[in-house]
Parts: sequence; structure tokens; C-alpha cells
Amino acid sequence: MQYRIMEAAAIIGRSQRLVVLTGAGMSKESGVPTFRDEDDGLWTKYDPAELATPEAFQRDPRLVWEWYTYRREIVRQAAPNPGHYALVELEDLLPQVVVITQNVDDLHQRAGSSDVIPLHGAIMRSRCTADCRGGPTAFSSEAPVKDGLPRCPYCGALARPDVVWFGENLPAEALLRAMIVTQEADVMLVVGTSGVVQPVAALPSLAFRAGATLIEVNPNASAITSLAALWLDGPAGEILPQLVAAIRARRGGQ
Ligand code: APR
Repeated sequence: MQYRIMEAAAIIGRSQRLVVLTGAGMSKESGVPTFRDEDDGLWTKYDPAELATPEAFQRDPRLVWEWYTYRREIVRQAAPNPGHYALVELEDLLPQVVVITQNVDDLHQRAGSSDVIPLHGAIMRSRCTADCRGGPTAFSSEAPVKDGLPRCPYCGALARPDVVWFGENLPAEALLRAMIVTQEADVMLVVGTSGVVQPVAALPSLAFRAGATLIEVNPNASAITSLAALWLDGPAGEILPQLVAAIRARRGGQ
């Protein structure tokens, strides 16, 4: 593995336009469960159709709010792990580091990443189901609660978690920017995603076809692995700090 880390450090260390694509595995060492891992995958225990679709929310908003309140508590207790901080350190070493994330926790932002494109929303934020301010009306998660359900502080309509559910469109501007930086990337570092949920799962092949070198950090093979020039098969919290140390070593320890 050490040799592959050195090789990856040489490639990333030369990058002028690095894009990092992260999934749930990035936050696993922070104590936030993934979705599809055997040991803690949320979708191995719960049915997404019951909890993470507009139909589920229509059918039983109370159940969906219980689920998101439970997950918000996990995120509240979580802290960025050494992998998140390693990505922040890359910003001192490279001209561009853009983090495209599928994660709805705010751990990249809390670690200090300065350019994060969240494609699946933010679990700690709520949104008005009536978009009463003439477009997505988001607010802090502390919306006033009436008959046990959070309400929009502006119009009193039912509030919902400000995340993308299955079957919903991703935020258009964020997705457009993610596609642009992906096509311009010279290196894409893919960390902790199974690479099975579209449209984000298409970004690595978009980068690859545009000529980027892909490097994957994941203890298991994923749908991305076949595109990767290098697969660093270990946990993000261990591998990413080693990557940063190797890049620094190549630069005489700056
Ligand atoms: N470090 C890096 N990767 C890890 C680690 C770790 N410590 N632990 C697990 N992984 C990897 C797993 O091997 C797996 O490939 O993280 C990946 C997690 O995959 P998923 O659980 O499918 O999560 P993700 O790819 O982010 O899911 C995408 O699906 O349900 C939707 O909206 C949800 O954003 C999510 C999307």
C-alpha cells in the first residue's frame, strides 16, 4: 500500500484542478453510518421507500421526521475525522481543491473545507413544503413545532428536511457546477462512495472521459474502482492523512 500512496501523492501533488468526490464512507469514522455497508448500512436495516421519498413523507410525515431527528442527533454528536482535516490540508498544498459531496452532514464544512458542493442537501436544515418565499425556502432546523410536526416559521406550512429524496431532482445550480468542475478536473479523488446512486455516480466517468486521472480511497471495491488509476483500499481517516504526509515529504516537508 505504501508504494501506491507514494504514487497517488505524486499524481495529486501535481494536480492543478483537484476535485474530491465523497460519499458516506468519508463520515463513517466520525460515527455517521453509511447506507449500504453490511455492518452499519442504514438501508440494510430500514426501507428507503418508507423514509426517504416524497411519497413516504406524504404518507407519514411523523415517521419521516422521527427518522431525520434520529439522524440529526447522530450528526450533532459527530466530529470531522482526520480524513476531513486531510482534505482541508490539501488546500494549502494545491491550487484548487473542490469537494463534491453526497453527504448531508456538515462535516466537510466543520473541518474547514472552503469549497464544498453539497449535492444531496443538508440534514441540519429544514425547508418549507410550500416554498412560501417563492423558491426553496430553507431555514435552521429549529422550526416551531405544531401538533408534533415542525412548521415553516414564515407561513406555518409543514416543514421538511432540506435533503434530496429518492426520485427528486438535485439542486440544479450545485449539480451544474459539480459537472463543470468535474469536466475541468485533472485529478478526481473519489472517497467512500459505492458509486451506485445517479446522477452523482456518473461524475467519475465524466471526469475520466474528460481526461482526468481517478484515484479511489475505499476499503472495498465499488462501481468506480474499474475507472481508477489507483485504488487505495483502506479507510479514509487513515489513508488521506498518509496521502497528505507523502505529498509534503515530496516537497521537502513543507
Ligand atoms: N473510508 C472510506 N470508505 C468507506 C469507509 C471508510 N472508513 N467505510 C466504508 N466505506 C465505503 C464503503 O465501502 C462503500 O463503498 O463507503 C461506501 C459507502 O457507500 P454507500 O453506503 O452506498 O454510501 P454512498 O455511496 O454515499 O450513497 C450514495 O445513496 O442513499 C443514498 O442519498 C444517499 O448520498 C447517499 C447515496
